[in-house]
Amino acid sequence: MALILAIESSCDETAASVVRNGREVLSNVISTQIEIHKKFGGVVPEVASRKHLEAINLVIDEALEKAGVSKYELDYIAVTFAPGLVGALLVGVSAAKALSLALGIPLIPVHHIRGHISANFIEHPNLEPPFVCLVASGGHSHIVYVKDYTEFEVLGQTRDDAAGEAFDKVARVLGLGYPGGPKIDSLAKDGNENAISFKKVKFPDGSLDFSFSGIKTAVINHCHNAEQNAEEINKADVAASFQKNVCEVMVDNLLEAAKRKNCSKICLAGGVACNSRLRKELEERKGDYKVYYPSPILCTDNAAMIGCSGYYESLVSNFADLSLNAMPYLEIDFK
Ligand code: KG4
Ligand code: ZN
Repeated sequence: MALILAIESSCDETAASVVRNGREVLSNVISTQIEIHKKFGGVVPEVASRKHLEAINLVIDEALEKAGVSKYELDYIAVTFAPGLVGALLVGVSAAKALSLALGIPLIPVHHIRGHISANFIEHPNLEPPFVCLVASGGHSHIVYVKDYTEFEVLGQTRDDAAGEAFDKVARVLGLGYPGGPKIDSLAKDGNENAISFKKVKFPDGSLDFSFSGIKTAVINHCHNAEQNAEEINKADVAASFQKNVCEVMVDNLLEAAKRKNCSKICLAGGVACNSRLRKELEERKGDYKVYYPSPILCTDNAAMIGCSGYYESLVSNFADLSLNAMPYLEIDFK
C-alpha cells in the first residue's frame, strides 16, 4: 500500500493529487492560470510563480479533502522538480519539502516528462513497458523509448520549437488567442487541410528529431504575403494545413521509432496529445500496433501523472533529501 500526495507546478497549472499504488487516482485538483496569462498571449514566468504561491496550499488541502485522506495517512510526497519554469517549480518543491519534513515521510523527485508518459498507466490499467511514446507539449517534443517504468531512451526531440509552442505561435499569428492548440484543433475542422502545401521538415541523416520553427515561419510568411496583396486569409484553411503538416511529421517519426525498436505498443502524451487530428492520423496508420493515449484531462498538466510516476520511482528508491532543488532543464534519461 502506498498513498502518495503529488504536487505539480512546472508551468501555469497548480495541481495536487492523491494516488494509491501508482494507478488509482483518489483526487486530481488542477487550478489553471490560463485566464491570467491569456491577456499576455503566453505564460509570464514571474506572474506564474506568484499565482502558484497563492494557490498551492488551497490546492493541496482540496486534493486531500476530495480523496478523503488525512495528511497523516500519506506514505510519500512526490513533486515535479524538473524541467520547467524555475520560479514556478520552486513553489511546488518548497511545499513538498515542507510536508515531507513535517510529516516525516520520504520525498520523491519526479521529472515532468516522465510524468506525462505515466498518464498512460493511469488511463490504461494493464499497460506495461516497453513501448515508444511521443511526448508533445508546450515545452517539449520527444520520442522516447520507455524500456521500463524508470528507464528511458530519447530517440528524437525537437531541435527548436516544441510542437505545442508552434500551435500557440501560429494561433497567435491567426489572432485566435492563447492557448492556441485547442483553438487550431477546432478551427481546422472547418478548413481544407490540402489548401496550402507547407514543406515537411525531415533530417537527412535518418534522425528522428523534429523542427517546427520552419513551419511557423512559413505560416507567418503566408499571412504577410496575403496581407501585402490585400487578399483575405482563410484562417480555417491555414489552421488545417498547418495542423496536417505537424501531425503527419510526428506520426511519421513515431512509427519509424516503433519499427526501429521492434515495439508493438505506441503511446501519446502531453498537451498536444489531445489533438484530434494527431489521434486520427495515428489511428489510420497504426497497422498492427496497439495505440494508447490518456483522456484530455490527463494529457495536459496535472498532478495525478506525477503521483503515478513517483510511485514507480519509489519502487527503485529514487528519493530526495531536503537539498532537492528545482531544475529548469534536465534530460529525461538523467541518472
Ligand atoms: O502538457 P501541457 O499542458 O503543458 C506543458 O508541459 O507544456 O501542454 C500545453 C500545450 C499548449 O501548447 C497547448 O496549446 C497544447 O498543449 N494543446 C494542444 C491541444 N490541447 C492543448 N495542441 C494541439 N491540439 C490540442 N487539442
Ligand atoms: Zn506538461
